[in-house]
Amino acid sequence: MELAPADIIRLEPDAVVVLDQTLLPQLRTERRCVSVPELITAIRVLAIRGAPALGVAGAMGVALAAAQAPTEPAAFRRAVTAAAAMLAAARPTAVNLAVGVQYALSAAHDSWEQPEQARRDLATAARAFHAAEVERCRRIGAHGAALFDDGARICTICNAGALATGGYGTALGVIRSLHEAGRAPSVWVPETRPLLQGARLTAWELGQAGIPHRVLPDGAVASRFALGEIDGVVVGADRIAANGDTANKIGTYALAVLAHHHGVPFHVAAPRTTIDPATPDGAAIPIEERAPAELGATVPADSPVANPAFDVTPAALIDSIITEDGVFRRPFAFDA
Ligand code: MRU
Repeated sequence: MELAPADIIRLEPDAVVVLDQTLLPQLRTERRCVSVPELITAIRVLAIRGAPALGVAGAMGVALAAAQAPTEPAAFRRAVTAAAAMLAAARPTAVNLAVGVQYALSAAHDSWEQPEQARRDLATAARAFHAAEVERCRRIGAHGAALFDDGARICTICNAGALATGGYGTALGVIRSLHEAGRAPSVWVPETRPLLQGARLTAWELGQAGIPHRVLPDGAVASRFALGEIDGVVVGADRIAANGDTANKIGTYALAVLAHHHGVPFHVAAPRTTIDPATPDGAAIPIEERAPAELGATVPADSPVANPAFDVTPAALIDSIITEDGVFRRPFAFDA
């Protein structure tokens, strides 16, 4: 059965409950985070992940902190803002995390002196932020679908689906929109090492939605381009700099270079909460380096490992950036 937004992440009075994405597709198990430190751990281990979903987790985390903070106004405000700072720093690359935290915090700006009211305001804001992100994804899907022909064979990477956004998806939202319109997309799904978010999560979501797809070893993607079996690429984003340079899951840059070499359109799909006007270009985007152990036990214990979670695709390789407000083309200017 397909997931509802509340199945992916929801705020309860005493917890943020997430579907544990580390266990999918074998197990569909919820992880109940009853404190901000537990939610931060869930974020760090990728039980909840994907830039827009991280924003939702950040907003809900602030509401959870408020629910558990002391009721004396000054202490309440100190506790909530300290928790907000820890949440925003839990992962560095996806700007949405800090955006979600900030969105929730700003809902309390008139009620800091009345903690009971502030608790209600923060919880309402966190749930509203979740609903708005899902709605933004639906609009991204509709705008993006116009860029593809019927029967398009589309390549994506990692998971930019409902799981990554709290519902519907960005890159997978475009593909869902095509499918819902009866326009018969099919999808190449690179496995996306080291954590196999393509093979585990995207393949699972596409299967649930009944969308034809095939999983590929990462190293096989170039051969599909060479055979002319890819008509277009659509990927998500973790942070888009002011000039359009885009950080996304490691391997995205290689996909963009391949698309460019083979004359295949390359699109980024993301809500405007992923665009960071304070980051001028890709060189300023912090890239998360993850634990060597994620590469698995086959690496000799004394071999050094590099495990960057993201890379940056320069704007020059991106044909369009699909947002809820429409499609931006190079040279990218997002202020309007
Ligand atoms: O490390 P993750 O799983 O949080 O990274 C997520 C991605 O990079 C996804 O590919 C996605 O494009 C961005 S979120 C829609």
